[in-house]
Amino acid sequence: MPMSLNATARKLMEPGKGILAADESEPTIAKRFAKINLPNSLDLRRDYREMLFRSTEAMRNYISGVILTEETLEQHAADGTSFRAIMADADVIPGIKVDRGAFPMPGDTGEKITEGLDGLRQRLEQYAKLGAGFAKWRAVITINDIAPTRNNIRANAHSLARYAILCQEAGIVPVVEPEVVGDGEPGNHSLERCAQVTGDVLENVFKELRLAGVDLGGMLLKPNMVLPGINSRDRPSVDEVARRTVEVLREHVPAAVPGIAFLSGGQTDEEATAHLSAMNKIVGLPWPLTFSYGRALQNVALRTWAGRRENFPQAQAAFTHRARMNSLAALGQWTSEQDRLAA
Ligand code: 13P
Repeated sequence: MPMSLNATARKLMEPGKGILAADESEPTIAKRFAKINLPNSLDLRRDYREMLFRSTEAMRNYISGVILTEETLEQHAADGTSFRAIMADADVIPGIKVDRGAFPMPGDTGEKITEGLDGLRQRLEQYAKLGAGFAKWRAVITINDIAPTRNNIRANAHSLARYAILCQEAGIVPVVEPEVVGDGEPGNHSLERCAQVTGDVLENVFKELRLAGVDLGGMLLKPNMVLPGINSRDRPSVDEVARRTVEVLREHVPAAVPGIAFLSGGQTDEEATAHLSAMNKIVGLPWPLTFSYGRALQNVALRTWAGRRENFPQAQAAFTHRARMNSLAALGQWTSEQDRLAA
């Protein structure tokens, strides 16, 4: 019998584990490869993902699920083993990014709306047959002098809710990701402005999820942390970020949600880990908190791999280290000394 939505969601939130976001779209992976002077070829994309997924120690101990793309969900390692078989071996749940990207919203506010609802019901049926246990849809909320607008918040929240209910109908756990971006331009907003916008967005998202009839016990939330923009004068401490993020979540996220898995959103590797650990030190949280990081798990591994299979062991060691540090953070047990000593 397939696992219930709630059981899958709880398994993704297993204590000390988190999600690896490896669902970079083609343009995004091309950008990451270009930074290390690599072309965006099918073989290199395969090798890179194979390096990550065959990091057995990390996958077995620290990773509960991996977000894949359509390409990787059906892809095989160089020796012909399917990525899905590699994950099954490590007891990792395969997930799938199902949105088609964030595109400019009509008008000139600089905002974005995520597309991908057309035909989604049929696609989800296919993904479920291929073994996807969960899915991801990312909405992007921009902060600038005139944004976000009510129109944009409502449109994105509505799309997230339509996506989420379709996932649940297909037996797939929706990971609902409304990202208030902190590393976009102009990026000069304060911590408080991010707190206010994040709260407003979450309020709207949960209103739409309820209207659509989404079972809150069968989903996960993937939010941003509350942070100032990258060009802001605010320099909050790790504990301030943790406290403010938890306050906003407490106010707007129902306790019925089985877990919250943060995106890293352009924070440095160590910042993303430190913030998660500080949040998990706060007692009496209504939901478990973990990571669903892309860049903050992969940065060092990507550079160490550098496009060469002979670098797999060192790159896998780098990935395993980051995964272990974030596992400790998910338990509220990370320290920067440990991070440096073990690196
Ligand atoms: P980052 O952790 O790199 O922000 O990516 C997570 C993700 O899945 C964004 O959609």
